[in-house]
Amino acid sequence: MRRSKVLLVIGLRSGGTLDEVWNRTMRLTRGGREVRMPRAVIIGSGSEIAPTRVTNDQMARIIDTSDEWIRTRSGVEARHFATPDIATSDLGAAAARRALDSAGVDKDEVDLVVFATMTPDHFFPGCGTLLQDKLGMPPVPCFDVRQQCSGFLYGLQLADAHIRAGMARTVLLVGAEVHIGFMPWTRENYAYALGESDVPPTKEEWEWNSRFRHLVVLFGDAGSAVVLRASEEGERGVIDHDLHGAGADFDKLCVPGTGFKHRPYIDAEQLARGDHIPVMDGRFVFKMATTHMAAVAKTVLERNGIAPEQLKMVLMHQANKRINEYCQKTLGLPDEKVPHNIHKYGNTTAATIPLLWDECTRDGRITPGDLVLMVAFGAGMTWGASLVRA
Ligand code: ACO
Repeated sequence: MRRSKVLLVIGLRSGGTLDEVWNRTMRLTRGGREVRMPRAVIIGSGSEIAPTRVTNDQMARIIDTSDEWIRTRSGVEARHFATPDIATSDLGAAAARRALDSAGVDKDEVDLVVFATMTPDHFFPGCGTLLQDKLGMPPVPCFDVRQQCSGFLYGLQLADAHIRAGMARTVLLVGAEVHIGFMPWTRENYAYALGESDVPPTKEEWEWNSRFRHLVVLFGDAGSAVVLRASEEGERGVIDHDLHGAGADFDKLCVPGTGFKHRPYIDAEQLARGDHIPVMDGRFVFKMATTHMAAVAKTVLERNGIAPEQLKMVLMHQANKRINEYCQKTLGLPDEKVPHNIHKYGNTTAATIPLLWDECTRDGRITPGDLVLMVAFGAGMTWGASLVRA
């Protein structure tokens, strides 16, 4: 198997879809019968939404914003936030249990964990091993993926590569986030937003909260997971990916402080400046997202000879409904092929795409055999698309 992996890398350099590469470099036979490259089939999914639902009107009690602005600019109507006892690994673990149940897979059968998040419980260790422990799994390899809103697609490629290489047969892939940790308001302000306190923000608190208004109204907390299993039969499974990363404009969307570039990595001055809260040049990110998401979607479709009409669904990262409407128009897709859930949950970063997958497979909008394209753009900057036969 180690020899086969080397051959696959050589094949990739000369281009083509993953299947073409396999056919060119890896035609193996066993007992006169051609051996097929295993495909990673998504056999189950599950999600966990954080418990506290917060509407736009509630946000407008502590920030200078309005339901009308948030809805029209982003499509968000409400988001859910985690309570103080819930961390990212908890949402991920709850989602993973549901995914294993729906797949009919026992936790002991999982031989690889991939956990995508930009809001881990700790600087270290990552959430992968925390999830392994919470689920009571054997000590399998656990990866943490740090590609923000593209994290699920990066994790999907990692899972798929392990399965194609024969290094794993059953993979638990999780995307989860608890964003409330970087919200700027005080506990008292939050209680007022929820109607649990009669004390409104002071003028200073109102101004501080409103400084971040273009960003904080967009995010919500959730976890979502899929189970992938190797299959040598049939056409189902992950078909192809096209991922990208380019750091030149990283500072247009990042957490500027509280990192190891600073010594010490966290101090009171950074907190006072708000360096622990992300900065985002919204217009710049919007433009990059629309450009790259549409282009990468086209690339994957064209090189696999798939016309947009053949797709059952296109699952786009839920950062802003207007970004997705733009991509939908560019790709010439009808409304029913581009599902949204940003209105209910906001941007749940690494969880948005598996959440959509989970919703669409549960209500029958995606059924086995359907062709599905997943597309994302996120901080880094990172972006990509994956083509999957459900
Ligand atoms: N409420 C009311 N007014 C607001 C708010 C708010 N929450 N936020 C900004 N405004 C105001 C601004 O101050 C500005 O006012 P001005 O004209 O008086 O200066 C006005 O609204 C327009 O601001 P813009 O930033 O130009 O608004 P825009 O239409 O671009 O929408 C948004 C902002 C929603 C952030 C949009 O740019 C966007 O979605 N960008 C992409 C986000 C994204 O994709 N992020 C990537 C994923 S996140 C990740 O990877 C971690």
